[in-house]
Amino acid sequence: MSNLKFALIGCGRIAERHAEHIHNKGVLKAVCDIDSKKAAAFAEKYNATAYTCIEELLLKEKDVDVVSICTPNGLHAEHTIKALQSGFHVVCEKPMAISVQDCGDMIQAAEKANKRLFIVKQNRFNPPVVAVKKLIDEGRLGKIFSVQLNCFWNRNNEYYKGSDWKGSLSLDGGTLYTQFSHFVDLLYWMIGDVKEVHTFKNNFIHKDIVQFEDTGVVILKFFNNALGTINFTINSFGKNMEGSITIFGEKGSVKIGGQYLNELEYQKIDDYEIPVLPKGNPANNYGQYFGSMSNHDKVYENVVDVLQGQGVIATNGFEGLKTVEIIDKIYEASLKLY
Ligand SMILES: NC(=O)c1ccc[n+]([C@@H]2O[C@H](COP(=O)([O-])OP(=O)(O)OC[C@H]3O[C@@H](n4cnc5c(N)ncnc54)[C@H](O)[C@@H]3O)[C@@H](O)[C@H]2O)c1
Repeated sequence: MSNLKFALIGCGRIAERHAEHIHNKGVLKAVCDIDSKKAAAFAEKYNATAYTCIEELLLKEKDVDVVSICTPNGLHAEHTIKALQSGFHVVCEKPMAISVQDCGDMIQAAEKANKRLFIVKQNRFNPPVVAVKKLIDEGRLGKIFSVQLNCFWNRNNEYYKGSDWKGSLSLDGGTLYTQFSHFVDLLYWMIGDVKEVHTFKNNFIHKDIVQFEDTGVVILKFFNNALGTINFTINSFGKNMEGSITIFGEKGSVKIGGQYLNELEYQKIDDYEIPVLPKGNPANNYGQYFGSMSNHDKVYENVVDVLQGQGVIATNGFEGLKTVEIIDKIYEASLKLY
């Protein structure tokens, strides 16, 4: 428990995770949603003040330390920049934004305000992801030759019908932003930055409800000469099937799999074995469907550590920008088949 005071912008689904962990690690002082009922419900549960306008909250809640942004993707930049310019540190949900220009503006706003900017990428804390990242950093896989990322999830029409922003090009941005940006972040974090991409994408069964692709295949060349593929779809029949990364290195091959990168499925490493891993948190459960692993407790642990001068930001603005830049490259390179 810390003395840090937080405000939360956007009181939707993921905000519930934020509120819960803010409450465990500090004080949730104020909440804001354009839907007054949602703001009021959060305010009542956490004894916070409710607002329906971000500008009013930022003006009145001067003793807040950190503002957490849980609004739709396309609003992250505007809300983050307003909060930074008002003198607050910011925790911004993934994806950092849906344009590279916006990410740059967010980083500059943090620099100008001399405030910290945290991007939420909680999959970095999944036990098998932590173990494989350590393996790579220690050089135990040797040179990385290639990587294969599979994102086979299910998002049906009901999912999109229930939202006023998911499926919209201007507020959602694409399946790589909303469903799979965690996975792209891990490619960047574990393998490196991407030099060249080629993409095919199509919208097979969501044409009436989603303004972008529901499926794509991508080939990648990294700056360090590693090669990669991404095979992504939200058409896995009936339910989520797999979220996996397979890495082939000079001295070892590993696969992190399960539905949410939550299991170490394969390892064959020269003179080394990853020990039995702790069981991770379950996935975020949204009733009809599941999201990524629920590690927001670790995100807020990091926020508190850093603001108390005891740590390094787990995912900073520069890394958030890199994921957006890679996704942007993938979309720019794509041949639309619809
Ligand atoms: N880290 C993760 O695993 C994870 C999981 C789910 C969602 N997310 C991200 O979190 C964000 C929110 O997603 P969600 O599923 O909770 O969406 P949601 O639709 O349930 O919630 C968004 C909320 O923002 C509110 N809102 C919209 N415009 C606003 C404004 N101008 N001011 C204040 N509030 C406003 C909406 O009324 C809504 O209540 C998205 O960026 C999404 O990509 C991250």
